[in-house]
Amino acid sequence: MIPFLTALTAHFSCGLFYAFSYLRDFFHIVVDWWKASNLQVGMHQSALAGFEDFYIRRAYLRVQDCFNRPISSPPDTWVDVVERVSNDNNKILNSSQFKKFPKICAPFKNVPCAGIGFAPPPGLPCSYNYLGFAAVDEYCTPRVIQSLKNYYASTCSARIDGGTTSLHAELEQVVANFVRKPAALVTGMGYVTHSAILPVLIGKHLHLEELLRENIVDGQPRTHRPWRKIIVVVEGIYSMEGEICKFPEIVSICKKYKAYVYLDEAHSIGAVGTTGRGVCELLDVDNADVDIMMGTFSKSFGSCSGYIAGSKELTRYLKYTCPAHLYATSISPPAAQQIISSIKVILGEDGTSRGALKLAKAHENSNYFRSKLQKMEFDVLGDYDSPVMPIMIYNPAKIAAFSRECLKRNVAVVTVTFPATPLLLARARICISAAHTQEDMVNALEVIGKVGDMVGIKYLPAEPKKPQLDECRDKVEYFRFKSRKSFRIIPPESVHNVVFKVYLYTCRSWS
Ligand SMILES: Cc1ncc(COP(=O)(O)O)c(C=O)c1O
Repeated sequence: MIPFLTALTAHFSCGLFYAFSYLRDFFHIVVDWWKASNLQVGMHQSALAGFEDFYIRRAYLRVQDCFNRPISSPPDTWVDVVERVSNDNNKILNSSQFKKFPKICAPFKNVPCAGIGFAPPPGLPCSYNYLGFAAVDEYCTPRVIQSLKNYYASTCSARIDGGTTSLHAELEQVVANFVRKPAALVTGMGYVTHSAILPVLIGKHLHLEELLRENIVDGQPRTHRPWRKIIVVVEGIYSMEGEICKFPEIVSICKKYKAYVYLDEAHSIGAVGTTGRGVCELLDVDNADVDIMMGTFSKSFGSCSGYIAGSKELTRYLKYTCPAHLYATSISPPAAQQIISSIKVILGEDGTSRGALKLAKAHENSNYFRSKLQKMEFDVLGDYDSPVMPIMIYNPAKIAAFSRECLKRNVAVVTVTFPATPLLLARARICISAAHTQEDMVNALEVIGKVGDMVGIKYLPAEPKKPQLDECRDKVEYFRFKSRKSFRIIPPESVHNVVFKVYLYTCRSWS
């Protein structure tokens, strides 16, 4: 819910922006027509059409320096951000004048992502370094280098051809043990794990509804035949909101209605739970009650790729049908070794307590940072223990000011706005890592607090309440504003507005 005044001013500024932008476009057309004898000759046509073209030209280009910032160092707690300069009102960011910034604090670093919210280009570093494995690690790095010597950089082959080495087999066994499932399948990319596996599991009728029950009563569209299989897909930690899902409730409802549970742990595996085993461990859910566990290694494990873990029958079925297994090149052996080694560190199998300390530190840092932001009157989404904490900016016009002012003070923040979020739900997304020191966090908080005052995004009265984890589990509404005049604008991914996030699918025959 957006405070009334904020919504009003945001609407006003957006309205003004669109009015002036369309006016400018209109004058451009008139002037072009006036100047050109034949408009068709020698004129460049935009590759984009309609609103996309308008939005890129008039909105994105003006603030593009706040997005896709190149980083010239490992994605550790501190990163080097390359400064870009433009001589033409930000249309072209001039590479010849690149200059290196001093070290920038990474949780607040600008992931080279999301041109105004577009997906990050694959292969570039990212800031979800929750456990601090993304840089040199005394246990993982030597083993990764050795695996490069033993197995080389790539198998250059799909898993079913020559792309399965002993390292791949070991990885799948380690992952299955880690997520406490009988078997696991690892694909070369987390995103692909979803996009290649869900279509294999679902039939051609895809149906999304707010309530599982209504759909069971209604049956399939048109025919109203009963659904043959239903899969409920939930995220452990919602990546744009930092909320921990109400998993025990979801699981119990799924059990009641005999629906399958598909849990995406991209942001929770390794990051939460006493031994880093994700939301099942955090919320005391029996892993056996989760039919399909999915996760990625690009966050807590400092590597890449994704996994699906479940019954032996499920993984066998996927091995014969999933395009990511059949056709895509398998995960690079050094990346596989990084995952195996980091899981060993997390579980203490390296003979030290570093993993346990990292986990404890990740929780401590996240909760410290969140409570400080709340005390500073920021509107912070998400739950305690979640390392993802979006600071709501709401007004998209403030995004650039917030990002640039923070960068000037050596704190780079990830800002997200339309079309990745609804227009009035712009935010800065902070990801905290176990590798951050108290000093890093204090410095960053000081900068964020100062810039927050300048930009005017401290929307809440300081929150005196410090919730315990149990309370957070029960009360996902905790961070919502209490009683105030407000517009009801609710993020689509939020668990608040739909009792839980439900995707219903008819499924093909795996069981
Ligand atoms: C919830 C969720 N699932 C899956 C993915 C895909 O993971 P990857 O970036 O490793 O491909 C992401 C990426 O951030 C994510 O946030």
